[in-house]
Amino acid sequence: MDKKYYITTPIYYINDVPHIGHAYTTIAGDIIARYKRLQGYRVFFLTGTDEHGQKVEKAAAASGIHPQEHADLMVNRFVELWQKLNITNTGFIRTTEERHRKVVQHIFQKVREKGDIYLGEYEDWYCVPCEGYYTELQLKDGLCPDCLRKPEKLKEESYFFRMSKYTQPLLDLLERHRDFVMPEVRYNEVASFVKGGLRDLSVSRTSFNWGIKVPSDERHVVYVWFDALTNYLTGIGFLENDEEFNNFWPCDVHLIGKDILRFHAVYWPSFLMSYGLEPPKHVFAHGWWTREGQKMSKSKGNVIDPHEVVDTYGVDEFRFFLFREVPFGLDGDFSKQAVIHRINGDLANDFGNLTSRTVTMIGKFLRGKIATPEKTGGMDDTVHETTMKLIEEYRKEMDVLAFHKALNNVFDIMAILNKYIDTEAPWKLAKENDVRVKTVMFNLWNGIRIAAMLLNPFMPTKSQEIWKALGIGRQIERANWDEEMRFYTPSDTGQIDKIPPVFPRIEENA
Ligand code: MSP
Repeated sequence: MDKKYYITTPIYYINDVPHIGHAYTTIAGDIIARYKRLQGYRVFFLTGTDEHGQKVEKAAAASGIHPQEHADLMVNRFVELWQKLNITNTGFIRTTEERHRKVVQHIFQKVREKGDIYLGEYEDWYCVPCEGYYTELQLKDGLCPDCLRKPEKLKEESYFFRMSKYTQPLLDLLERHRDFVMPEVRYNEVASFVKGGLRDLSVSRTSFNWGIKVPSDERHVVYVWFDALTNYLTGIGFLENDEEFNNFWPCDVHLIGKDILRFHAVYWPSFLMSYGLEPPKHVFAHGWWTREGQKMSKSKGNVIDPHEVVDTYGVDEFRFFLFREVPFGLDGDFSKQAVIHRINGDLANDFGNLTSRTVTMIGKFLRGKIATPEKTGGMDDTVHETTMKLIEEYRKEMDVLAFHKALNNVFDIMAILNKYIDTEAPWKLAKENDVRVKTVMFNLWNGIRIAAMLLNPFMPTKSQEIWKALGIGRQIERANWDEEMRFYTPSDTGQIDKIPPVFPRIEENA
């Protein structure tokens, strides 16, 4: 069977300046996409922008331009950031594209024909910035429970989706697939919400225009979340390219932040079931970043700009930090000190030093050449066997998006290699035992090559630099996983010698 994998990020609101939260989900998607490609999968990695809704309409009006023009300007901020962060998305979807309008209207129409969408009247508290209605009970001291701003009481004619009908099908889905929502704490959250029973959901608006029109009722625009969620179908060619679509649907994983869990794990599968498509296999909700203990917000002016972090510390360092520092799924705190600490500790000391020491010794003791040893034993076997075990662990953890645990396995490989250097003392062997020094350097070289390949999804550029330092000119991205995950001497290995530090140390007060 064809190995294929479909992964998505949320589509981002164009009104926000891209910040660390957006970068976090997108880099996570990129890590998985790169990892799966290394494993020989055909990957579709989709990201994009959410461009409809009242906020966009208002912002455009304030600048005196058409909302489409506004969107066309804003979208570039995301496109440029993804390029800078080395994101390898296969698709990019904008909800204002024509192909998307067709899909949304088609789904809406079919679901209506089925009787799951009906016309009614809606009255409740509406929060403009959050684009959501809230019941009296949900308000916090009369304010929007999400952003704590004052909502307006709105009454409008509206189309409703028969959400209530999907309470039982959703409970069945959750029962059948215990890993439908990950991590477990989010699964429990969704399960208890659904168990409480679901209200029908308003899926159209008449209070503004900037959106996709309801088919054969132009007074209404489709609710932004109905519109936005459908991007996951449009993005892989729904209605346009059946072969591609059938190859990739159902989606393997929708990566999201914990704040948009209900939309993805409750509404979205219900829409799909109603239309007659399979729900996604997994929805993974990650945690939120704070800054030095504080919630980030525009008004506090403490939002972390990914451009700034990258310009100061480097792209790969930033990518690595986000996933080394905090278990994926939990909340985390961002501070300059924490970034510097990770760079100096894990990268400069552990990985960087190990690599520099090894290539310097290969240059000095073996005239820059490694060769497969005839005999191994003792600690050599331990290094080899432990590395193989850690690769398997890494793989299991990556498969469930436990990035921090996967990274721990890579650092365990480095720890055993560092210990091996200390016990074997190649500088002594170089004087006494030609054969042993070759064996030890062969094992170190292989361990580092493997560690670099395992780090490649996190640090695509730096891991490639390490391969280069090891005398390998090939692209890691094109390498074959099974070929590389063993100790051997590739025939095309070039001359190896001393290199400048791959991860320079950063001054604490930089
Ligand atoms: N447009 C919707 C998504 C529609 S998907 C069909 C949306 N956009 S958003 O731009 O507001 O947010 C996108 C993502 O950024 C969410 O997954 C959210 O969790 C994430 N983050 C926003 N702030 C964040 C942090 N401070 N930390 C981590 N992620 C956060 O919602």
